[in-house]
Amino acid sequence: MFNNDTITRFQQLETPFYYYDLNLLRQTLRACREASDKYGFHVHYAMKANFNPKVLEAVQSFGFGADCVSGNEVKAAIEYGFDKGKVVFAGVGKSDREINAALDAEIFCFNVESVQELEVINELAAAKGKTARVAIRINPNVDAHTHHYITTGLDENKFGVNTWQLNDVADALRKHKNIQFIGIHFHVGSQITDMDVFKSLCVKINEIHQWFDEHGFTVKVLNAGGGLGVDYYSPDNNNIADFDSYFKVFKDFLNIKPGQEVHFELGRVLVAQSASLISKVLYVKNGLKKNFLVLDAGMTELIRPMLYQAYHQIENLSKSGSLEVRKSESPEAAPTTHNLQHTTQSTKYDVVGPICESTDCFRKDVDLPESFRGDLIAVRTAGAYGEVMASGYNLRDRVASVYSE
Ligand code: LLP
Repeated sequence: MFNNDTITRFQQLETPFYYYDLNLLRQTLRACREASDKYGFHVHYAMKANFNPKVLEAVQSFGFGADCVSGNEVKAAIEYGFDKGKVVFAGVGKSDREINAALDAEIFCFNVESVQELEVINELAAAKGKTARVAIRINPNVDAHTHHYITTGLDENKFGVNTWQLNDVADALRKHKNIQFIGIHFHVGSQITDMDVFKSLCVKINEIHQWFDEHGFTVKVLNAGGGLGVDYYSPDNNNIADFDSYFKVFKDFLNIKPGQEVHFELGRVLVAQSASLISKVLYVKNGLKKNFLVLDAGMTELIRPMLYQAYHQIENLSKSGSLEVRKSESPEAAPTTHNLQHTTQSTKYDVVGPICESTDCFRKDVDLPESFRGDLIAVRTAGAYGEVMASGYNLRDRVASVYSE
């Protein structure tokens, strides 16, 4: 919930923008840190979820590592003060330039996704007279029961090596002298709320772990990836995930040997709830069959609803109590104080953006109080894969960021 002061502040700002609640972000990070410390687990923040500078500063301040998927993410992680000894670099398509930069940066490890990539890393490391630490990303063929666009651990996905390729991986690991095998890596998908998925993952990790033991490899790191989901339906948008129950699954079901480290790569669950996309109603279109709220934000600012049919709560902030609202017809006009009664009349709207694509719709048939041009609209739980997936399509301006302090 936003208090009246915050909403008054929003009214004075040009929309659209992402609003970050840095307190909620820190509370979430603290909860994760405490729970992972309790079990002695290591967490790398999956930077792809949000690399906003203030977010990176906050995450780094809690001592998390960084899970990067591009050379630029590796560079940014180091610039923002993440310990290079806690930086991992994943991705199916690491370029030679990116691998070289990561070798120079002396990161903790490469999460390697194919036998050919092992060869390339070995060759590039040899040219520098270095040894690269590697973990092998293995496809556990566990169904994450999440949207198929964000499922990654099935045989049909492009990520990781499949179990039937493990003999080739073992041959390559034995042959290449400039790579040092340190562990095994998995990631089955994102926005997973069913703990049984993680239990199934543990069973698969144990099997594969045993395979490596039996083939004479020392597995130091078990990396279970990320994927823990958030509650996009939470009415107050701030129920922090139950990190303890999540980590406990791994404590209970993973076969962890003395001296082994368990690593995670959490993204969404650390940042999703800490931001909302704040937008304004540009036009209200009442049709015969449909009413549309046309916002000044669209798929160029937040693409998740259009790309994954993702649900985000939508609120009309100008109707949430006794507020300062814009009486003027112009959304740019200065706010006027106006004591608005909580309105009971609600209407169904398709909440759409301004982009020239029919898919540019946040949600259909949203129950909202009767809304007007200039009303402030919040699209909640937008801190993960929101701002970072914004685009310049239609030559749109870059979306701004505003912070709680
Ligand atoms: N590790 C690996 C190898 C990954 O591919 C990902 C996410 C993560 C960790 C972090 O997953 P998380 O904890 O955030 O679920 N854009 C989509 C999500 C894509 C996730 C990609 N990989 C969305 O908006 O739902």
